[in-house]
Amino acid sequence: MSDSLAKAREVVRGARSLVALTGAGISAESGIPTFRDAMTGLWARFRPEDLATPEAFRRDPATVWSWYAARRALAAAASPNAGHRALAELETACAARAAGFMLVTQNVDGLHHASGSRNVVELHGNIRRVKCFEQGHPAASWDPDAAPPRCAVCGSMLRPDVVWFGEMLPAGALDAAMHAAARCDVLLSVGTSGLVEPAASLPFAALEAGAVVIEVNAEATPLTPHATFALRGPAGTILPRLAE
Ligand code: OAD
Repeated sequence: MSDSLAKAREVVRGARSLVALTGAGISAESGIPTFRDAMTGLWARFRPEDLATPEAFRRDPATVWSWYAARRALAAAASPNAGHRALAELETACAARAAGFMLVTQNVDGLHHASGSRNVVELHGNIRRVKCFEQGHPAASWDPDAAPPRCAVCGSMLRPDVVWFGEMLPAGALDAAMHAAARCDVLLSVGTSGLVEPAASLPFAALEAGAVVIEVNAEATPLTPHATFALRGPAGTILPRLAE
């Protein structure tokens, strides 16, 4: 084990309050494409403004609904990987020693819940949930052949319950995440390029407050030079070592 990994593991073991921030990279080993990885990233092939904005949905609801339906099917077929499981184990270990733990995710695939994580803040919503575009009425079922289906309550188009570019984050989610990041003593940033605000500010809020920040990522990011420990490699390999 590298020296920095061993030191980072000791820091995690002694954390009084741990925040884990995750991005698409933690689900890559579950077969879910990331957004900006050069070859496989979704945004590497599509332009977000063409698919992930209210304007795109108004312009072409069938294409946007179908694209999210395909991503929802991918998420439903995916299984948590060792990285997700390691974070669930860390949460259990923190609870056993009365240490705080919060998992803040930018991901919408639901794999943290599926791996047993409990205190999960979904900053960008959850692709498995569907609501209507005009009123936000939740939909538990819908016509599988319609693209997009209609709300049974108000008749407006149904959409995925995820945050689109230009939209507000779920009320309370960002406050809870910012509050925890500013008060934790260790923040783990895992599998995120750190390019999308406000999530990208969370590790810096933790640094400002004097916390140790450990980055686990396949490549360098804007956070890397500022992180206390920058552990380069797959989350599915590194996180279990940190959680040992
Ligand atoms: P990105 O695709 O921007 O970044 C994924 C990061 O994970 C990259 O830095 C990869 O190098 C890294 N990575 C890939 N595979 C990995 C692995 N196996 N282990 C560790 N790291 C790995 O995804 P996000 O940072 O999550 O928002 O993107 C943030 C937001 O931008 C998303 O939530 C989404 C997107 O637009 C909205 O749609 C609102």
